[in-house]
Amino acid sequence: MTHRLGIIGYPIEHSISPVFQQAALDHLGIDATYEKWEVTSEEVGDFVTRLRAPDAWGINITLPHKQAVVPLLDEVDEWATTAGAVNTIVNHHGRLIGHNTDGPGFLESLLVETGYDPKGTRALILGAGGAARGIMLALIRGGVDSLVIANRTLERADTLSKLSIENGVNCESVPISGDPLTEAALSADLIVNCTSVGMSHGPDEYGSPLSADQIPATAIVNDVVYNPLETPLIREAQTAEATTLGGLHMLVYQGALSFQMWTGQDPPVAVMLEAATKEMASRGA
Ligand SMILES: NC(=O)c1ccc[n+]([C@@H]2O[C@H](COP(=O)([O-])OP(=O)(O)OC[C@H]3O[C@@H](n4cnc5c(N)ncnc54)[C@H](OP(=O)(O)O)[C@@H]3O)[C@@H](O)[C@H]2O)c1
Repeated sequence: MTHRLGIIGYPIEHSISPVFQQAALDHLGIDATYEKWEVTSEEVGDFVTRLRAPDAWGINITLPHKQAVVPLLDEVDEWATTAGAVNTIVNHHGRLIGHNTDGPGFLESLLVETGYDPKGTRALILGAGGAARGIMLALIRGGVDSLVIANRTLERADTLSKLSIENGVNCESVPISGDPLTEAALSADLIVNCTSVGMSHGPDEYGSPLSADQIPATAIVNDVVYNPLETPLIREAQTAEATTLGGLHMLVYQGALSFQMWTGQDPPVAVMLEAATKEMASRGA
């Protein structure tokens, strides 16, 4: 039986998950297809019910359905419960289990690609939206010592900062410009951009939240934006001679963890990364 996998979202056209997931399935000779399905909020319930069929191994979920699927599942794991969002559903003999591989994928990509372990480190998170929240919780679980959240809308940074403190990690919130930001950046071991600044066709396509003189050479700079592959922030960090990691790695590593859950096989991460990079390049990223 050919098994079915895929990703749902609205819109979904932009997703490159089918490209790198199918490359991994084909590389290992697994008889399964990975598709993308545009599913509206009204259609999510029926769609998820159909995942209990024997040929369905599961799906990835992207915006805007990551929270909406939670009550439709039989079980939700600890990461997904903490995040309040599910990005992976596994059909386990008709029972639907929800997982969230975004946080673990983020941590794994940093560990494998740069050797970064959050334990005892200082991290600066730029942004306070959905990606920032998930990444903050992952860093807290990873044992980060202290955090600074910088955001344009300070109230949103304050909300994340409170959540961090409730979870036992010292956290400050600062505006995304000015001296407090520079101070936080210059003393950070890890800087993660979770704003849409620098994203192609985004609100500030050519902008960078930090300039080279605000980035220490000892820092690791991870931009979760992956279109373009080399963002303005990554270029500033290269000028500062910092270690850099682009957002495609987080995307592929979260997908690789989902792959492992569905197939029970070690994901061929290098194959997935190569397929994802080629696809982005073919889209002019
Ligand atoms: N690599 C991956 O796997 C991965 C995963 C998830 C997301 N992402 C990327 O991460 C980025 C953020 O996603 P999200 O889901 O967190 O979005 P979101 O919830 O909409 O948050 C957007 C963030 O960007 C800030 N922002 C937007 N325009 C800005 C501007 N002109 N100047 C300064 N700050 C600005 C917002 O600040 P305010 O609060 O002030 O509006 C907010 O902090 C997107 O580019 C997305 O593609 C990548």
